[in-house]
This record gives sequence, C-alpha cells and structure tokens, in this order.
Amino acid sequence: MAGVSERSVGIVMNGVTGRMGYRQHLVRSILAIRDQGGLPMPDGTVVRPEPILVGRNEAKLAAIAKQHNLDSWTTDLDEALADASAAIYFDAQVTSRRVESVRKAVAAGLHVYTEKPIAENTEAALDLARVAAAAGVKVGVVQDKLFLPGLLKLKRLVDGGFFGRILSVRGEFGYWVFEGDWQEAQRPSWNYRAEDGGGIIVDMFCHWRYVLEDIFGPVRSVQALAATHVPERVDERGRQYRCTADDAAYGIFELDGGIVAQVNSSWTTRVFRDELVEFQVDGTEGSAVAGLRRCRVQHRSVTPKPVWNPDLPATEDFRAQWQEVPDNAEFDNGFKTQWELFLKHVVCDEPFPWDFLAGARGVQLAELGLLSAREGRRIAVGELSL
Ligand SMILES: NC(=O)c1ccc[n+]([C@@H]2O[C@H](COP(=O)([O-])OP(=O)(O)OC[C@H]3O[C@@H](n4cnc5c(N)ncnc54)[C@H](O)[C@@H]3O)[C@@H](O)[C@H]2O)c1
Repeated sequence: MAGVSERSVGIVMNGVTGRMGYRQHLVRSILAIRDQGGLPMPDGTVVRPEPILVGRNEAKLAAIAKQHNLDSWTTDLDEALADASAAIYFDAQVTSRRVESVRKAVAAGLHVYTEKPIAENTEAALDLARVAAAAGVKVGVVQDKLFLPGLLKLKRLVDGGFFGRILSVRGEFGYWVFEGDWQEAQRPSWNYRAEDGGGIIVDMFCHWRYVLEDIFGPVRSVQALAATHVPERVDERGRQYRCTADDAAYGIFELDGGIVAQVNSSWTTRVFRDELVEFQVDGTEGSAVAGLRRCRVQHRSVTPKPVWNPDLPATEDFRAQWQEVPDNAEFDNGFKTQWELFLKHVVCDEPFPWDFLAGARGVQLAELGLLSAREGRRIAVGELSL
C-alpha cells in the first residue's frame, strides 16, 4: 500500500512445539496477525511480526517452519536471542523452564511476553519482575481469560451496574482428563507431577487471580482443599507414573466488599454444563451465568419464586428463565487480542497493565492456595510490590 510504512518486529518464540505455543500463540495469534496484513499502530505504521522459532526438537521445528513457510528457527536459544532482528522474547515452554530463559532474554535486552505462571514461586516471580524493571524492558504475561467473550460480557454487566451489590461468585472449571491407559491423555503428563511444575492450583489459580480482580475486586484471602484423585497415570511414552500434583482444587476466595468467590478446578470431573468453565454471579439486583462465549442473566424483576417440595417433580424449566446477553461487538481470539495490545505497548508505548507484577500476583495466589491446602487453614493474601 502506498504511503503506509511497515515495520518488522522479530519475535523469538520459545516452546512453539507445545500445545499453547503452537496453536494459540503461533497459529492463532502471530500468524493470524500476519495473514490479516499486519497490525496497524495508532501512529499509522503497520507492524509485521516475524517469528523466530525456538524449541528442543529439530525435526518438529523444521516441520512447523515448513508447514507455515517460515525460515527462521533454531534449537539454540542464545543464537535466537542474539539475532539482530529480535525485539521480543516469548515463552510458552513448560513452567519449570521459564525463569532461566526469561532472564537470558532480559539480559539480551529484549522485551518479554510470557505464558503464565511466570515462575514456580512468588519470590522467583518478584525477582524476575525486578530484574526486568531494572533492565528497562517491557514485559507482559498472558491473561487470556479476560478476553473471552463470555467474561467480556460479564465485565460489561458489572461495569453497567446490573448486579446491584454483588454477593457471590461460583466458578466451575474442568473436564475429565483421560488417565492415558485405555485412551490417550489430552494434557501433557508434566501437569500431574509437582516436581515438573504441574498441579491444577499452580495452573489455574493464576487465572482466577486476574479474573476475580479485573472483574470484581481484590482477593483478600484464600482457602483451598487440594486433591490428587487419580494417583497414577500413563505418560506420552506409555509408561505408568505416580501423580505427585493435585488434579482438583476446591477454593474459596474472599474479595473486597464481602464478595465470596468459590471456584472448583478439576481435571477429574465430567462435564454437565454448557461450557468448560462457567461462573455464576449473584447480586441483589440480578444474577448472571457466564462461560467462555455465552452469558445469561436473570433480573430481580423476573426472578421466579421456587417453592421447595421434594414430593413433586420440578414444575419449572429453570434454565429457560434466563436471558441471553447479546454480543454487541465482534470478539477476536483472546490470545491474539492480548498479543496485539502487547505489540502496541512495545512499539507505541500504549498501556499494558498485565505486567510481571500482575504475573507474580497470580503465582502468589497459587502458592498461598497450596499452603492453605497443606495447613488446612484460611490465608490472608497480602499486597505485593517490587
Ligand atoms: N493461558 C492458558 O490458558 C494456558 C493453558 C495451558 C497451558 N498454559 C501454560 O503454557 C505453558 C506450556 O503448556 P503446554 O500445555 O503448551 O505444554 P506442552 O507440554 O504442550 O508444551 C511444552 C513446551 O515446552 C517445551 N519444553 C522445554 N523444556 C521441556 C522439558 N524439560 N519438558 C517438557 N517440555 C519442555 C516443549 O518442547 C514444548 O514446546 C505452561 O507454562 C502452562 O502453564 C497456559
């Protein structure tokens, strides 16, 4: 296009052979941005992201590069970080590998965007945030759930005052993850080994922290019960292994304003819901049920008056008494939306609130959740600062 200036931004993408790295970040975000002709910046420039693929397995990387017509890939992270065209480092490796690689990227002067959790414990997460701040690089952490259509609609309801005073939030997340014996598991085996950075609290409480805080308010305490319901599974190579990490977590969170949030997270439950995650919010003026895409409401004025009578079959179709919240907007892939915001942050200094301190808050909630589960008590969640 005449008159439009293009700018290439090299992105070192580590862990692109993994589930998240490949599907959500490379294909659905970075390549999708290229396919749409780049990302227009507020100043009129069009940014074209140029992925530099990094991974452990040469054959897998070569195959991905070939399939998507990419020519820059390596198994040597240092080589990728030294690439003169690299401006951003992105990390979607297993969690236990993250801190070391992110530190290297910061030392190389690159801006960093990473999957959650940013580290395996709060101290390491804060340390990473401090190192990045001292180096003056821009940083961001994936907080994709905030960009789900269902939760965007829920936030819209909160901002519009639909609920009156919010009383409680009840979240149900989960599905059955196969054990790997008679049907292949649909999640990598490291998720079920604590020593490899696995566990559902570590995985999901980082999400619940920003979901609860961005939509409802600060989390003040956590009480969690963790369980390893399935003690043995079969890994990718068909070998049986012992599960050392929690596969289900039953959490209660107190939020500002007396809001009580209860969230069940489980890889050992079968779905009888409309979506894999759903949150019911009850307020004095109305209630809502939000999932990944849908959001339904029931206002005070149309709330029926059920009467408890176990002697009779249910006389009402309760689900039919809720109203669908319309989209009223176009929703893009959540990972891509957040990538676009990060690119604008790096190139044009646009605001991006989901930094390493936000990432550390997620890690903190997971750490305190595990502590609560171990000690069987409610734990206050303190403020973090750099
Ligand atoms: N935002 C989300 O919704 C979301 C969802 C799932 C996972 N995640 C996060 O993404 C990261 C990757 O998860 P995933 O499910 O894609 O995992 P995965 O096992 O599919 O991929 C892991 C990647 O890390 C690489 N790796 C480097 N060192 C490794 C090692 N020693 N052992 C195994 N793999 C190693 C692998 O090659 C692979 O590319 C994790 O930190 C996880 O917490 C985020």
